[in-house]
Amino acid sequence: MKMGVKQVIKSLDAFPRAEEHLLQKTQSGALVSIVGLVIMATLFIHELTYYLAIYTVHEMSVDLTRGETLPIHINMTFPSLPCDVLSVDAIDMSGKHEVDLDTNIWKLRLNSHGHIIGTEYLSDLVEKDHATHNHDNEKEHHDDSDKKLHAFGFDQEAENMIKKVKQALADGEGCRVYGILDVQRVAGNFHISVHGLNIYVAQMIFGGATHVNVSHIIHDLSFGPKYPGIHNPLDDTVRILHDTSGTFKYYIKIVPTEYRYISKDVLPTNQFSVSEYFSRMHKFDKTWPAVYFLYDLSPITVTIKEERRSFLHFITRLCAVLGGTFALTGMLDRWMFRLLDALTKTKPNARSGRR
Ligand SMILES: *[C@@H]1O[C@H](CO)[C@@H](O)[C@H](O)[C@H]1NC(C)=O
Ligand SMILES: *[C@@H]1O[C@H](CO)[C@@H](O)[C@H](O)[C@H]1NC(C)=O
Repeated sequence: MKMGVKQVIKSLDAFPRAEEHLLQKTQSGALVSIVGLVIMATLFIHELTYYLAIYTVHEMSVDLTRGETLPIHINMTFPSLPCDVLSVDAIDMSGKHEVDLDTNIWKLRLNSHGHIIGTEYLSDLVEKDHATHNHDNEKEHHDDSDKKLHAFGFDQEAENMIKKVKQALADGEGCRVYGILDVQRVAGNFHISVHGLNIYVAQMIFGGATHVNVSHIIHDLSFGPKYPGIHNPLDDTVRILHDTSGTFKYYIKIVPTEYRYISKDVLPTNQFSVSEYFSRMHKFDKTWPAVYFLYDLSPITVTIKEERRSFLHFITRLCAVLGGTFALTGMLDRWMFRLLDALTKTKPNARSGRR
């Protein structure tokens, strides 16, 4: 009875062993084994890195967020305009100039070599109500300026300012504008320009709109924190004017984006695409050069999820790869053995014992 059970269990063995004297170790077999091991190790490492690698899945849905603000990160340099003449304005679709408490824009004075020589908090972000949504509101500015001019006349203050700016221009002073602008999540624009100056002062300083050198370098322009793999298309954009001046317009389409890390952390941010337009200044144009960023929000939001492949899937692939390699090398081994056998057949003591 006991023997019977043992026999049954033995008969279930899927790996019957050959009798010891039938096994024979050969050099060719060793070689094939080593090659097999190397292949196995390579495939194993490949499978492991494939399993460990994090991949991302993109999903789209309609943007349902409401009432949040849109942070605009700016860091750009104007190598040929002194800080005193530059102003940053932001207008949104409701026609209101945006000035939020969280708004922090700084201006850094740079000398002609690009070294920092002073800093200034930009509190002069113009806060004025505008009746209509208007991108080209230079005229209004200058109307305001006219009134101001009549109010205080061409006094000493303006004179000093002109002198100071002219000196800065002669020294080749530049300006870096950086900070974060928090605006409403509606379409709008912000621009960096000399519109803060009154028109007569501007005329005195530059001697004409065509001489306002709005060459600029955008170091960073983004609408929220960065996630791995984000590409902000305006970073490191260099636009140097060589002859007449003009107005730069960047049309920006913002795509709200949510990045979900594998650790379940969620990072709400925005991606964007941009197209660019430059209009040259003509002699009798009434406008002054500026750099405009006109943005609009997409109604579709993108969710990027980090994911890892399943562990069971990894084990399945591992078994397939290792088992497959094993079987293949076994076959190779037999073929090589037969080949060598055939070659050495002429000799009287040919090797034998393998199938
Ligand atoms: C702005 O960009 C410059 C040049 O890349 C960099 O040196 C500077 O640290 C940046 N400023 C901020 C506030 O990020
Ligand atoms: C404008 O400024 C840039 C940078 O300083 C300079 O390379 C360029 O020659 C200037 N353009 C004109 C028309 O002066």
